[in-house]
Amino acid sequence: MKLLVTGGAGFIGSAVVRLAVARGHEVVNLDALTYAACLANVASVAESPLYTFEQADIRDRAALERIFAAHAPDAVMHLAAESHVDRSIDGPGDFIDTNITGTYNMLEAARAHWQRQGRPAEFRFHHISTDEVFGSLPADPAVKFTETTPYDPRSPYSASKAASDHLVRAWHETYGLPVVLTNCSNNYGPYHFPEKLIPVIILNALAGKPLPIYGDGSNIRDWLYVEDHADALLLVVEKGAVGRSYNIGGENERTNLELVRTLCAILDTKRPKAAGSYADQITFVTDRPGHDARYAIDPGRIRTELGWRPSVTVEEGLERTVQWYLDHETWWRPLLDRQGVGQRLGVKA
Ligand SMILES: NC(=O)c1ccc[n+]([C@@H]2O[C@H](COP(=O)([O-])OP(=O)(O)OC[C@H]3O[C@@H](n4cnc5c(N)ncnc54)[C@H](O)[C@@H]3O)[C@@H](O)[C@H]2O)c1
Repeated sequence: MKLLVTGGAGFIGSAVVRLAVARGHEVVNLDALTYAACLANVASVAESPLYTFEQADIRDRAALERIFAAHAPDAVMHLAAESHVDRSIDGPGDFIDTNITGTYNMLEAARAHWQRQGRPAEFRFHHISTDEVFGSLPADPAVKFTETTPYDPRSPYSASKAASDHLVRAWHETYGLPVVLTNCSNNYGPYHFPEKLIPVIILNALAGKPLPIYGDGSNIRDWLYVEDHADALLLVVEKGAVGRSYNIGGENERTNLELVRTLCAILDTKRPKAAGSYADQITFVTDRPGHDARYAIDPGRIRTELGWRPSVTVEEGLERTVQWYLDHETWWRPLLDRQGVGQRLGVKA
């Protein structure tokens, strides 16, 4: 299959690109290379004859038309987005432009391409979205997000992703574009940009800096290992039913405080401090405005209809992730100088 992957120089997109090439798919990676991008994430496939890179902005409709005409993809996996909630609080405009207008541009360019090709039934427009569109869950472990949970986004980021989900469904209902959607929980793993919680904790711990926990650390997330997620996404683009959405979760709910303590324990074993534990560096800081209390995915649909389950527990995935950061300082060190990284963002409200 020839896949057009947007955002393939980012965290999840690059995992999709690496896995798709490894499985023999042709991949065109379309990415604007914003502050969050890193071409080193796809260096392992850059020389493959199956791989092509196109630097383009999804806000630039003419560039998208050219890329669709030049490559004639069989399917689109649309991941390009502004993805950091804290940045969406300080500057929502980029999230509206890229996540909503950019998705609209992608849909229109894909629709024109699909029509030129004679509306092939096998074409897919796969929109990669987030469980944050469903809002916040109560503490009751029996209550989880399903594909029919009403949308209730709370942050500029999640509202922009909810809007883009609605556009994708509308292009299916109105124009017949063969779409599939996925809404996943929090990802973690190798190549995670060092402004997100898990890499911040690992890198601050190693640097002897405070480990910031927003609020009291009781917020619960359902952690999904990024390589498991990439595997699920390729399954959905190949086997998912047209017009259907699938929730993808890691079946690994943890409070932020539990997660950070686990990371500290792994670091205590792998890179012991001269005295004490990394957990001594934990510091509670002002909470994020509108911080959702709990996210948890009911993965019943993707499990029963497509036979997919995550392959690792959060403890196994965190162990691999910590080891990856210990082994890849040359990857993360230069990223610490990028704009906003290492600063507390998103406290204005
Ligand atoms: N990280 C998570 O835990 C998570 C969870 C649920 C859903 N998602 C969704 O998955 C997708 C990928 O997330 P990620 O964490 O890999 O994000 P990321 O920030 O690591 O990567 C985003 C990529 O998109 C590119 N991009 C941004 N704006 C662009 C534009 N205007 N034109 C072209 N390229 C542009 C960036 O250069 C970057 O390479 C996003 O759509 C996000 O909403 C992420």
